[in-house]
Amino acid sequence: MKSSCLELKVINGPNLNLTGSRQNEIYGDFTLSQINANLTNLAINMQVELSFYQSNIEGDLINEIQRCKTSNIDGLLVNLAAYTHTSIALYDTLLACNIPFVEIHLSNIFSREKFRSHSYISKIALGVISGFGGNSYKYGLMALVDYLGQKAQS
Ligand code: DQA
Repeated sequence: MKSSCLELKVINGPNLNLTGSRQNEIYGDFTLSQINANLTNLAINMQVELSFYQSNIEGDLINEIQRCKTSNIDGLLVNLAAYTHTSIALYDTLLACNIPFVEIHLSNIFSREKFRSHSYISKIALGVISGFGGNSYKYGLMALVDYLGQKAQS
């Protein structure tokens, strides 16, 4: 039985488990656990149920997004990391599952190497938040909750 409050999930792709200890000048000093803890606090204040998933493996990310569909997750924050720029398979999964999602990046992908400027998933995202470090997730959560709230009223 589904609870009445929004159930959202944060999906993180490869190498994001190293956040806080890889290229800190680009990705920031906070670890993924610290970013998730801050998000959890924000979610509690917003009365949203938030859970987290991280994997370095493309197929596992696909399986998790499919599970989100079967368990009726209302919305996603998605940082596919390098798979953003390469994975038609994950694009197909997000297309098939049709769960509203915000695309997140810690860094500003448009100010970096050219190959990072292309994302397979942006065209089907509600929007993209890129370049605010750990706060990208925070702004993404606020945008997603706002969007789902407005949709519920219409
Ligand atoms: C990233 C940007 C990607 O280009 C990169 O491959 C990552 C992280 C970000 O959050 O800034 O691993 O998605």
